[in-house]
Amino acid sequence: MEYLTVALPKGKLFKISADLLAKADIYAEGLTEKSRKLVITNEEKKVNFIVAKTADVPTYVEYGAADIGIIGKDVLAETEKDVYELMDLGFGKCHLMMAVPGDKRREKLTDWAHTRVATKFPHIAEKFFNRHGMQMEYIKMNGSIELGPIVGLSESIVDIVETGTTLKENNLTEIARIMDASARLIVNRASFKLKFDRIDKLTRDLRKILEREGTP
Ligand code: PRP
Repeated sequence: MEYLTVALPKGKLFKISADLLAKADIYAEGLTEKSRKLVITNEEKKVNFIVAKTADVPTYVEYGAADIGIIGKDVLAETEKDVYELMDLGFGKCHLMMAVPGDKRREKLTDWAHTRVATKFPHIAEKFFNRHGMQMEYIKMNGSIELGPIVGLSESIVDIVETGTTLKENNLTEIARIMDASARLIVNRASFKLKFDRIDKLTRDLRKILEREGTP
């Protein structure tokens, strides 16, 4: 059997992803996101894990450095990488939206045209605003997006909402829903053909586990 290399994102999806794969017999001893060792191997099961920064997971998979990966649909859509999206794993549910300070609402979405929007997702944001015929100024940030309007960096944000707590605590109000997201299993195009049997078995096993146990 050939090795299967799996890219997993550090952060919120890491543990759920690793636990789910372990149930499908894809695991390695010492696999934690804190590990200093970035490739972790299980020789007996012929599995390598790459522990990657979230935004890099689709890149590893596109170039075949990893055969498969687990990544949020938001990041996948933003990076626009050429990979197969094989399965919606159901967990990590969230949505991307536009929010503005609660006390600065305007009548229509298009009233925000030509203002500055802070976001980690400039490609998704631009597609969304283009669909509404709105030209915007995009300010690419790497985290704590909610700070944007508070410190006067931008008029609005495009960001992820999970529970809504962050918006609330920063007095921001959602004014437009852009897309829903959840964790996806992605596969390198060549690996899907070359390692079809193994990847196909894995997806069937994952489906069974999710059906039996529900979304983790
Ligand atoms: C995400 C997102 C929001 C928060 C939303 O940030 O950017 O800040 O989660 O979650 P909530 O609706 O449950 O409050 P993340 O924790 O991924 O970190 P980041 O700020 O570094 O992007």
